[in-house]
Amino acid sequence: MFSKQLRVSVTLVCLTLLCQYCSKEDTSQPANTESSNTTPVLPTIPYNYMVSLPANIANNLLQTDNTPDNNAITNDGATLGRVLFYDKRLSLNNTISCASCHKQTLSFSDTALRSVGFEGGLTRRHSMPLLNIGFYQSGKMFWDERAASLEEQTLMPIQDLTEMGMTLPALVNKLDTVAFYPPLFQKAFGNSTISADAISKALSQFVRSIVTYQSKYDQVKAGKASFTAEESAGEQLFLTAGVNTCASCHTPPMFITSSPKAPFALRDDSDLGINNEDRFKSSSLRNIALTAPYFHNGSIASLQAMLTSRIPDHGVAAQDVSKLLAFLQTLTDNTITTEARFSNPFN
Ligand code: HEC
Ligand code: HEC
Repeated sequence: MFSKQLRVSVTLVCLTLLCQYCSKEDTSQPANTESSNTTPVLPTIPYNYMVSLPANIANNLLQTDNTPDNNAITNDGATLGRVLFYDKRLSLNNTISCASCHKQTLSFSDTALRSVGFEGGLTRRHSMPLLNIGFYQSGKMFWDERAASLEEQTLMPIQDLTEMGMTLPALVNKLDTVAFYPPLFQKAFGNSTISADAISKALSQFVRSIVTYQSKYDQVKAGKASFTAEESAGEQLFLTAGVNTCASCHTPPMFITSSPKAPFALRDDSDLGINNEDRFKSSSLRNIALTAPYFHNGSIASLQAMLTSRIPDHGVAAQDVSKLLAFLQTLTDNTITTEARFSNPFN
């Protein structure tokens, strides 16, 4: 471990080198891509990750929030989390970041049925979209809920032998040698010492900050827009049709419920999910139009395919398909797929 003094002088040397590089860059035109890929470009005043949510969503969050007392979101904490989320150094051979399998343009999910890890291996299940994570009341993570909390989950892909292949001590040592990290930890947690705990907390803050609240659905609920007749019919079906309504398992306003229950199970002999009970978690259905393919094994190619299937509770009558599709599309909030605060700072 560096002494404080040594760390200060190392930082100074690095800053000097960085400044030299900057002034060089000013005079030479095209950006040095190698360098811009390894050092994040961050705003002087951090982006705002502590947005105020519309009342109906804020009230829902009050009831369901899984944020632990010791890890409330701060702008500096989420900023560090953003850098870690996009940093390929988190994998053993510097090839894979969290964002490789959770892509912003896809609502932080992946089009691949199974995502590719650091040595080309494939994940066991389909990647999950990362949005509205804080609204999953139990806080349990993964399709089979094997992580008890987001703070526990965020360290698991790093150590997964297919995904990133690192050990936590090796990661801490690696980040310690990267000049920009200690100051970012200092800002986020008041302490420049890098630890697995601080890495987990920062990643969790960033992931929890990804909340959708600016969809057409939200505008309608705020009285600022109205549904078409078809969208409106779709909402009614979603809320009332069938023995088990869609809404009983995917409950508005975030279209999420943290007690995945039988009877629903997508038949899959090779994967029995939660406690081997043929049950799976479902993420928030917001932005669902952006996250195909669907279900824990990615076996359903489109929403249309799901609604016209014979999957229990999910295949619907032919005349209802276009209505439900129209309604589900109103849940799309494109701000999270484009906003700079969620984007790759290494670009
Ligand atoms: C190689 C691809 C890959 C990488 C890299 C990866 N993930 Fe994932 N992620 C997945 C897959 C696949 C799942 C679902 C796995 C399962 O349920 O068994 C998942 C699930 C999750 C979940 C659970 C979401 C929920 O609603 O339960 C979170 C949170 C998450 N990842 C965050 C991260 C973070 C943070 C990183 C970086 C430290 C990361 N992931 C790196 C593929 C990846
Ligand atoms: C009994 C509870 C239940 C009901 C009722 C239900 N769902 Fe689901 N839904 C789930 C579960 C659990 C999953 C994830 C299962 C899996 O991956 O194996 C899921 C998955 C989905 C997915 C894919 C999510 C993703 O991220 O891949 C969509 C879309 C969906 N449901 C929409 C609907 C619609 C529309 C209805 C009503 C027509 C409906 N659901 C009714 C429990 C339910």
